[in-house]
Amino acid sequence: MANKTLPFSQEKLKRIVSQYGTPFHIYDEKAIRENARRLTQAFAWAPEFKEYFAVKATPNPYLLKILREEGFGADCSSLAELVLAEKSGITGENIMFTSNDTPAEEFMKAREIGAVINLDDITHIEFLEKVAGIPDLISFRYNPGPLRSGGNSIIGTPEDAKYGLTKEQLFHAYKIVQDKGVTRFGLHTMVISNELNPDYFIETAEMMFDLVVELKEKLGIKIEFVNFGGGIGIPYRPEQEPIKLEYVGEGVRKAYEERIASKNLHPLKLAMECGRVITGPYGYLVTRALHKKEIYKNYIGLDTCMVDLMRPGIYGAYHHVTVVGKEALPKDHVYDITGSLCENNDKFAVDRQLPRIDLGDLIVIHDTGAHGHAMGFNYNGKLRSAELLLKEDGTVDMIRRAETLEDYFATLDFSKL
Ligand SMILES: Cc1ncc(COP(=O)(O)O)c(C=O)c1O
Repeated sequence: MANKTLPFSQEKLKRIVSQYGTPFHIYDEKAIRENARRLTQAFAWAPEFKEYFAVKATPNPYLLKILREEGFGADCSSLAELVLAEKSGITGENIMFTSNDTPAEEFMKAREIGAVINLDDITHIEFLEKVAGIPDLISFRYNPGPLRSGGNSIIGTPEDAKYGLTKEQLFHAYKIVQDKGVTRFGLHTMVISNELNPDYFIETAEMMFDLVVELKEKLGIKIEFVNFGGGIGIPYRPEQEPIKLEYVGEGVRKAYEERIASKNLHPLKLAMECGRVITGPYGYLVTRALHKKEIYKNYIGLDTCMVDLMRPGIYGAYHHVTVVGKEALPKDHVYDITGSLCENNDKFAVDRQLPRIDLGDLIVIHDTGAHGHAMGFNYNGKLRSAELLLKEDGTVDMIRRAETLEDYFATLDFSKL
């Protein structure tokens, strides 16, 4: 069983807490950079490989800048994410815009900054043409439907997912945009989420490579890039194994040689848009035990709540919990670790075996570096925490301050009461 460790000592964490207070998310720059390089290295064999970091996972410009420096682009799905990518220095075709049910202003912004537009539906061709015009390069999101099993509870089985075009629509769509003068074509899919079986990603690549061949044979279209989406899982539980990125890269290489290189379709650019596997394991939610409650069960109430991390509440997701300074003590207590929302699913852990927790103990919730702070909301008027960066040189910067009551009330005009 892997040990879930922290990138700081207890003394260092206490110093950070005394400066910034709790709660906060803190991200480990060194680990993020090393991990980004591992992904790039796994696809170093490819004629061209680009990871477009899924901005929705951790939409913080300081992290986007770090990832840009590592050669990553940005996968955006909203106006705000496009602006964030732009402000982080990620420009033009280094941005993929993969949206659904897209408002006009989002297509307009994507066109304005020259992002690669990846359409989610055949009807969006006409919509895009009307609101922003058709660019030279267009990509479509493929939904393989029941042809492809292996979806999971977050994204669902492909046939139940709202995303993408059917195969028949896909062929029709390329023909339509070709007739409208499009000269460059991309192909995209995203069929799984938080998946730890590496073979699924290789199978997805095989499926997509076969489609590239078919598009060439049937429509004469030469696809310029294939984007396999994100969805690589992380070991939230200590007993789980991380995906070996090298294994995925090698499996995709074999599929590329067999299905693309041998068919004279080389060079084909490859892309992914992972979020979770890039930053997820390198973020930590640091909180304090505020209350202890003993009724039918034993509860530890934290000074945070699900506005800072809603995955356990909405998916029943496991996040590892460390009681700082008590790592070596026996886990001889059973607690539900709760937040302060008036919702009974506001629990970070249920029936968790932990060492005895005392009021004031620092509690760290692991693996919050993706889809953590980002998913926050303001129900109950709760305010989201700050985000900190543990830099490579060991110093700490605040990269987003905590929300204030003024932020919460900023959309109200009390003077008209
Ligand atoms: C279109 C798209 N791309 C990429 C991602 C990133 O997924 P993950 O963080 O699991 O890699 C998502 C997640 O919701 C998505 O919807």
